[in-house]
Amino acid sequence: MKKERESWGSSFGFLMAAVGSAVGLGNLWGFPYKMGANGGFAFLLFYLILVVFAGYVLVMTELALGRATGKSIIPAYRAATDGKMTFVGVFSALAPFFILGFYCYLGGYAVKYMISNFGDLFGAGFGVNGTEGSEFFTNLFTNRGESAVYTLIFIALTIIIVSRGVKGGIEKFNKFAMPALFVLLLIVVVRSCTLEGAGAGISFMFKPDFSVFHGTGWISVLAAAGGQMFFSVSLGMGILVTYGSYMDKNDDIARSGFVIPVADTIIAILAGLAIMPAVFAFGMEPTGGPGLLFMTLQNVFNSMGKAGGLFGGLFYLLVSIAALTSSMSVLEAIIGSFIDNGLDKGKGNQRKMIAWIAGGLCAIMGVAVAFDGLGTYLPPMFGRFCWLDGFDLLAEGLLMPIATFCTVCYFGWIKKDFLPTEIKNGSSFKTEGFYRFCLRWLAPVFCAFILVGQIDSFFGLGIF
Ligand code: PHE
Repeated sequence: MKKERESWGSSFGFLMAAVGSAVGLGNLWGFPYKMGANGGFAFLLFYLILVVFAGYVLVMTELALGRATGKSIIPAYRAATDGKMTFVGVFSALAPFFILGFYCYLGGYAVKYMISNFGDLFGAGFGVNGTEGSEFFTNLFTNRGESAVYTLIFIALTIIIVSRGVKGGIEKFNKFAMPALFVLLLIVVVRSCTLEGAGAGISFMFKPDFSVFHGTGWISVLAAAGGQMFFSVSLGMGILVTYGSYMDKNDDIARSGFVIPVADTIIAILAGLAIMPAVFAFGMEPTGGPGLLFMTLQNVFNSMGKAGGLFGGLFYLLVSIAALTSSMSVLEAIIGSFIDNGLDKGKGNQRKMIAWIAGGLCAIMGVAVAFDGLGTYLPPMFGRFCWLDGFDLLAEGLLMPIATFCTVCYFGWIKKDFLPTEIKNGSSFKTEGFYRFCLRWLAPVFCAFILVGQIDSFFGLGIF
């Protein structure tokens, strides 16, 4: 039976989908805060250096691996490494499974906040405006039934889009959603930066503070910037391998390797400009993580009076879109291997069925996270983590950096010509020497460093 493997409709569509995967909660709640807390402009410089020496190279590596084999994660690793490193594919394929388990829970919250803000704006009485942000958030995560329902709504949206296919679902949605996200972001940036007292937020982010580099301080800044970039560009979980496998042979991988992390960084900076000036203008504390997104910012919107419902609604719409375009890439990475398997066995394209089954399994994990209520109800995972952090540890802390470390070692040292040969299809690849050097010498060190940094921050070892 003839294979019916899917592909992207256009290179613009592919780029939007890849940038859509990269731009997510990491950009909105991680980057602005980490930048402010780690030396401002100095952190940005480190981050940009990492984008050039590691992000660029790793994105190209994953895309080329996917396109060279024309397969999704597990079969791609099996084919490219002659079966020797299939386990790396398995690691990469397990990571998105754990990620989706908690990502859909957080995405569900974004949807809930969007509905509540717009609802209050139109007088539907959702009670978000006028309630202290931390109280609203606590009420939500301790209401396990409601949290579970929003988690399920979010994952259902993800499954519906992904089940429509690479071109008809993921690409179509991203082509429209990413430009919309950009416009929404600009609206919020203008509002935030024109508030009285916004300057303090801008200087929190950008003020160069080189004192963080004194002594060994630069190591912890490097660890923070590296970990952030790794997650933000969606590395190490086969997403870019899977997306690369749907690319046209004439597409320029070297250009995509540059555009994806750069666009991701620009959006992260804009997200900072949307968030920090407003946080400071209203005299609130800049924090990181869920607290920033679901408590501090909601207080900012509440302080805007009637306009708060509008800007709050628009902002959480933006967050929902960013989370959705990321979560669909995660689901695609999970199901790609199974779809390929079905095609190889002559069963045709079983996308719909596989998407619902895999999505359903992730939904069970998401509901478990919701029922844990951020560590309030269920016994801790591995004796010390709330379920959300436990899944995150498995994926981001261990599987992703280990898989990437093995990948760069194999293709940098053993099968050295495999990826450059692929990249040269469709690209003049003027940076080949640079790519080979970075893949061989810098990327393994970078990945090992990320792994230690992740373990350090999860277990609070204080190594860096
Ligand atoms: N890159 C996304 C973000 O910045 C998160 C993500 C990580 C998405 C891994 C998919 C895979 O939030």
